Amino acid sequence: ARSYNITLLPGDGIGPEVVAVAKDVLSFAGALEGVELRFQEKLVGGSALDATGVPLPDETLDEAKGSDAVLLGAIGGYKWDTNEKHLKPETGLLQLRAGLGVFANLRPAAVLPQLVDASTLKKEVAEGVDIMVVRELTGGIYFGKPRGFGTNDKGDDIGFNTEVYSASEIDRIARVAFEVARKRRGKLCSVDKANVLEASMLWRKKVTALASEFPDIELSHMYVDNAAMQLVRNPKQFDTIVTNNIFGDILSDEASMITGSIGMLPSASVGESGPGLFEPIHGSAPDIAGQDKANPLATILSAAMLLRYGLGEENAARRIEAAVTETLNHGFRTGDIYSPGTTLVGCKRMGEEVLKTVESLKEVA
Ligand code: NAD
Ligand code: IPM
Ligand code: MN
Repeated sequence: ARSYNITLLPGDGIGPEVVAVAKDVLSFAGALEGVELRFQEKLVGGSALDATGVPLPDETLDEAKGSDAVLLGAIGGYKWDTNEKHLKPETGLLQLRAGLGVFANLRPAAVLPQLVDASTLKKEVAEGVDIMVVRELTGGIYFGKPRGFGTNDKGDDIGFNTEVYSASEIDRIARVAFEVARKRRGKLCSVDKANVLEASMLWRKKVTALASEFPDIELSHMYVDNAAMQLVRNPKQFDTIVTNNIFGDILSDEASMITGSIGMLPSASVGESGPGLFEPIHGSAPDIAGQDKANPLATILSAAMLLRYGLGEENAARRIEAAVTETLNHGFRTGDIYSPGTTLVGCKRMGEEVLKTVESLKEVA
């Protein structure tokens, strides 16, 4: 039997709630395909800070690097919000992404027919939307130097960051995006702020130059402010979007709401080699943590992406995705995607329903 080592990083807030549920689904779907998954759970974020004094212990990064794939819940919480930069949960997550070299973050936002009513957009605008956001994940303003605090020449305190991209960083993320678009509907929209920012001017130049290697892909460019507007005006115009770290962060949260909820959006982060990192795009949701209210589907769908992109186990991935849509067909909804006429359930119950459905779909997949 094929067997893999998976690092589980539950993290903080609703992280442990959604990861516990996704782990069971992952494990079961794998088993049905003759795949054995061995799990090692490690600390990251606020829980790591409390236990070890740092947001990403060496032990966690070493375990992650040595495994076949990493499934993460979420990190962060009020308790650590005023910590110094190097002692923030978020810093641990950024160190993990950088440490694994996972520069390409795929965030699919597709409106499932079952959830059209959960979208805040009109039915005719939302239905059929199927967008893949390819977000650069290990560069840009999140990592650029110089950064820090200081004082300006008027004696005023300042905080500063640097948006910086090298040609090779742009080239490698654009390549991933062209390839992704090729497997989809062949349309790629590069989103930047090339009317103002030098880093975006280089971005647009490099993406444009690469287009000659992908003559079958229809490339367009859009400024990020317009893209934010177009996403709610007519989201169906988009197929694949490629953008920098911070624009991708913001636009993917926006795109998630078209699909009904941020609690639905999974992600896969991959590099040139080594294990991928799989996590929902949402955060630790401290406002609902510990109440069994979180939607676990984003993490369950991240587990499906782990199987597909991380392990090459396409059949097991499909089992999970089929079980999620079938569970929605059965009418089960967490609060964030609830609409009248459906059955309101908590995080655990949603997990149990998906698990039952994976079982019942055993023969058909
Ligand atoms: P958030 O994504 O945690 O929550 C935003 C809103 O969406 C909240 O109302 C929350 O209840 C809701 N929500 C999020 N996930 C949900 C789910 N699965 N089911 C139902 N509702 C859900 O964003 P925030 O409130 O801005 O940030 C909270 C903390 O999470 C901060 O510390 C932030 O830094 C961190 N964060 C972490 C990640 C990550 O780990 N990748 C991502 C985003 C934010
Ligand atoms: C995300 C989050 C993170 C990001 C934070 C918590 C560092 O918002 O995964 O989208 O900005 O990348
Ligand atoms: Mn985000």
